[in-house]
Amino acid sequence: MCLETSVGPLKMKNPLMLASGVLDMTRGSMERFREAGAIVTKSVGMGERKGYGNPSVVELEHGLLNAMGLPNPGVDEYLKEIEGIDVQKIVGSIFGKDEHEFARVAKKIEVAVDAIEMNMSCPHAGSYGAGFPTDKISDAVSAVKESVNIPVFVKLGMENIGRRARAAEEGGADAIVAINTVRAMSIDIETAVPILSNKVGGYSGPAIKPIGVRCVYELSEEVDIPIIGVGGITTAEDVIEYMMAGASAVQIGTGVYYRGEKIFEEISKELREWLEAHEYGRIKDVIGAARA
Ligand SMILES: Cc1cc2nc3c(=O)[nH]c(=O)nc-3n(C[C@H](O)[C@H](O)[C@H](O)COP(=O)(O)O)c2cc1C
Repeated sequence: MCLETSVGPLKMKNPLMLASGVLDMTRGSMERFREAGAIVTKSVGMGERKGYGNPSVVELEHGLLNAMGLPNPGVDEYLKEIEGIDVQKIVGSIFGKDEHEFARVAKKIEVAVDAIEMNMSCPHAGSYGAGFPTDKISDAVSAVKESVNIPVFVKLGMENIGRRARAAEEGGADAIVAINTVRAMSIDIETAVPILSNKVGGYSGPAIKPIGVRCVYELSEEVDIPIIGVGGITTAEDVIEYMMAGASAVQIGTGVYYRGEKIFEEISKELREWLEAHEYGRIKDVIGAARA
């Protein structure tokens, strides 16, 4: 059973990628995911950012709520961390306040990564995330495309995703990554205080899977470029569902919290079993099956 897939020019031995932000800030933790088709590193910007205070992550009934505030060591320290890393493929997630910052960070990391993921989707980071203006997306993507010669993906959140994806495609994006966490809040009713220090955060995990699947399904009508599905995947069946909706590959973040670092190896095995039982020769044959 062949699990190989590709996202535009990026070829992978299986469709499972580690999502940005989960155990992907140090080389040691990233190298625990050698079974993933690719890993996406924690979003990095030009300079160091400390992020928000604690609590910044809380476990809820059906997922995690987090507001980290894009903490990162800045692009130069990041490059030292990933130098010589031993993983299948590495995708560098970047953020920027405008097209210039995006292009500068992309250019700096190009030598060390296989593809760039432009994060325009964090739901609690203002214009560094989902607040990045829709009318500036096309220019920012073309600025990055002009500065590098590797594939460029654009990660979007659920809000206004159709228009934002079309803008990314116009700018020359090689793929859309959908979705980031969903803007959410939880309140401690004993103290009458929002639990996260930032008050508002992003919800991830099983609760958001139907939202992600819906976004991927609708996006595959909106754009002609490949889509990477992300949000709530914890099983092989979840992967199949996203791929039937139209995803060429998927990312897993919170699923690692539930199933541990072996999740990539285990889901690869479960995918092969599922394909065999359902008489599909290749995972690629599943892509878009629900759209037929
Ligand atoms: C603790 C945490 C940190 C995250 N940090 C980032 C980040 O830096 N950049 C980004 O694009 N997405 C980030 N995300 C979002 C994930 O990459 C993913 O889009 C989202 O969690 C939905 O997938 P999941 O349900 O598999 O976790 C983060 C998610 C979590 C839970």
